[in-house]
Amino acid sequence: MGHAPTVASMIWCNSVVSYNYCKFQWLLLCCFLFLAHGENIKRSDFPDEFLFGVGTSAYQIEGAYLEDGKSLNNWDVFSLSPGTIRNGDNGFIADDHYHQYLKDIELIQSLGVDTYRFSISWSRILPRGRFGDVNPDGIMFYNKILDELVSRGIKPFVTIYHFDFPQELQDRYGSWLSPLMQEDYVHYADTCFKNFGDRVKYWTTMNEPNLFTQMAYQNGRYPPARCSQPFGDCPAGNSDTEPIVVMHNMLLAHGKAVNLYRRDYQHEQGGSVGIVLDCLMYEPLTDNELDQEAARRGLAFSIGWALDPLTFGDYPSEMRQYIGNQLPQFTSAERKFMRNSIDFIGVNHYSTTYAKDCLYSDCSISANRATKGFLDTTSERDGVQIGELTGISSLRVVPRGIGEVVEYLKERYDNKPMFITENGYSEPQTEGQDQDAIQDFKRIEFHQMYLSSLAQAIRDGANVKGYFVWTLMDDFEWIIGYRIKFGLYYIDRQTLARVPKMSAKWYQDFLKNNTQTPVIRLSSELVHNKADS
Ligand code: NOJ
Repeated sequence: MGHAPTVASMIWCNSVVSYNYCKFQWLLLCCFLFLAHGENIKRSDFPDEFLFGVGTSAYQIEGAYLEDGKSLNNWDVFSLSPGTIRNGDNGFIADDHYHQYLKDIELIQSLGVDTYRFSISWSRILPRGRFGDVNPDGIMFYNKILDELVSRGIKPFVTIYHFDFPQELQDRYGSWLSPLMQEDYVHYADTCFKNFGDRVKYWTTMNEPNLFTQMAYQNGRYPPARCSQPFGDCPAGNSDTEPIVVMHNMLLAHGKAVNLYRRDYQHEQGGSVGIVLDCLMYEPLTDNELDQEAARRGLAFSIGWALDPLTFGDYPSEMRQYIGNQLPQFTSAERKFMRNSIDFIGVNHYSTTYAKDCLYSDCSISANRATKGFLDTTSERDGVQIGELTGISSLRVVPRGIGEVVEYLKERYDNKPMFITENGYSEPQTEGQDQDAIQDFKRIEFHQMYLSSLAQAIRDGANVKGYFVWTLMDDFEWIIGYRIKFGLYYIDRQTLARVPKMSAKWYQDFLKNNTQTPVIRLSSELVHNKADS
């Protein structure tokens, strides 16, 4: 059989877990691969200069929530109120990366990746935002990480803000609902550029502002948990208007920070800067022109909402058409610095949904909303699911979607460089099956199929420069806590030991261009490219 484990991999195996257990896993993997069939996806199917990486975010892994001068942030405070996070989990210890960063960087290096995406904890380096001093211990922590990465030849790919900020900014003026947050953000970004920019060639200003506005101000499930009916039942908030205000402040904060970077740092430091968006793909529920239009609106109201202002200087025409009177105006000076304020697009892509028209068709009251683009979403068409279930029910496995979304971005944004900043799989939850989590064949299958679809999009001309697996290790998955696992490494929650899953070994092999691992096609959802559809 062509998939027999090599001596080297057995040595690897022996070094990480019990030898017999590992042998057993290898046997399973071999059987699995033997039964499977399909084309190969190889590292060499991607351009030579293409970057492969793995990603994390500060709050999801660091822990040490009150150590060495870090202040309480929005997630610390949120998780202290009962009932907010599943199982009462929190990020106080998380994966203890703050203390185990060296070991984690060794794991990252052992995967053989070119780059590592991580975020900086705002409250660790500026515990009181711009109302207090820079915390030297916080700066030192990220300096150590950057130095380690650079000395090992791993390119740092740094997210400045990934959902966590000092609680003081919430308490003082309501954080992102206020334009004052723009000033705090620019001060924070400036602190990052000044201290870390000599080693960082890839910056992203923010992670998923489009998802954040929805989760924090529309359905009220992320802090500061604001919403109104029919989206949710929060003590305060307005789900129809606040997301729009928050996004406006975030976009202006981005634009101002990028302007500052380009003026004061970019020439000397030679880095590039982008933004990361949640890029869910929308397909029409039916062939009907109304649903096709709804799918186009879905993309414009989620992706275009952020990327149009940062590319063309204004909100999408689709949004102006339907909610023009609700959208804030950019001044002409703002349009000027917003336009072309990204060097690349960060694409977080996991799944695809069907879109159904609500402008001319009957929909539920919560779907038929202006801020959502007057459309409903569903994963089911004629009783058939769009793809296999994952640990997050809205994220079905739909490999073709990554090619489709990249194609959409290519057309709409003149093929601006893109990085797939996140793509990953969490298995549907089962009670007490931690051992199974290590034999994560479904995760391998997921990455192979999505990579195949992506490789085809690149062959079709999409300007995609890199791909990051989400995530290095199981972590604090926000309101779902530790039960949902996306990692290549399993974390034993008692000992915090890192245990490699089969997917870690697969990624390692893939990056060595091991051509023996086939695309595994056991699920009903097959990769199909434009030509098939
Ligand atoms: C996107 C977010 O950036 C990340 O923090 C999260 O863990 C993944 N999606 C999975 O839900």
